[in-house]
Amino acid sequence: MKILDFGSCNIDYVYDVEHIVQPGETLVANKLSKFPGGKGLNQAIAISKANAQVFFAGCIGEDDNMLRHTLEQAGVDIHHLHTVKESTGQAIIQVDKNGENSIVIYRGANGAVTVEYIDQVLKQFDSGDILLLQNEISNLIYLIKKAAEKGMKIILNPSPFEEQLKKIDLRDLYCVMLNETEAMQWIGTKNANDFLVWAQKEYPNLQVVLTLGKEGSVLLRNGEVYKQKAFSVPAVDTTAAGDTFTGYFVAGLCRGMDTSEVLRRASAASAIAVSRKGAASSIPTYDEVDTLIDSLAFA
Ligand code: RIB
Repeated sequence: MKILDFGSCNIDYVYDVEHIVQPGETLVANKLSKFPGGKGLNQAIAISKANAQVFFAGCIGEDDNMLRHTLEQAGVDIHHLHTVKESTGQAIIQVDKNGENSIVIYRGANGAVTVEYIDQVLKQFDSGDILLLQNEISNLIYLIKKAAEKGMKIILNPSPFEEQLKKIDLRDLYCVMLNETEAMQWIGTKNANDFLVWAQKEYPNLQVVLTLGKEGSVLLRNGEVYKQKAFSVPAVDTTAAGDTFTGYFVAGLCRGMDTSEVLRRASAASAIAVSRKGAASSIPTYDEVDTLIDSLAFA
């Protein structure tokens, strides 16, 4: 079984600020750093660091001289990475003194994923292969339909959430991995746990992973519920915490690891990422998770 992550690549411009800027306010940042990012790239790197082989497909601009190298260095297979005329995607990220962030994305090359490119990449994959997706590239709904027709196992992280995602037929998905805000937005509720009840009733074959911040995470599979507490760390930068969790979860699942252990490791890796600066650069290796996991306390 191969894993294909078809997603975004961004250059993250990270501004350290006292607080997230308010409407109409002008704020002086304490520091500006440039990091590799994008949910697609971050999740591919997390999968690779979690010791699973991953193929990445997505678009970068001719201006890129950092993201290709970052993916390669992390051991991600980039044969399907496509260079386009549009400029590489960007994210403007404010990180406040509590490690909380606020992100504005400019899609750039991530919006140049065409149906032709999708068809060309999918030809290299078969029924039963995993396809990991987020919501930062163009033609996502087409990609889901085509991959489902092939019998690929689609794992969707519907982030960032947009109303058009509701057009997706959830019967085409193998698993959906979402946070509490996305779960509430999807079904229009004030309680994220309602998503689990709704999914269980309407789509009993769909696996759901719901991350609940300090409340930990929940996996719903075939009517069975697995719960994992969150680990507590001093927060430096929460960027890519979710991507780290997703990548470690997908890698563990594909490596056939015990379900509770998959959730425990994904949760630990995500906590470690929060204690470090940057997106892709904050993701720990498998060995680092091994070394640190027993010293982490629950939130
Ligand atoms: O999930 C974090 C990522 O979201 C950042 O790296 C940024 O590029 C945005 O895509």
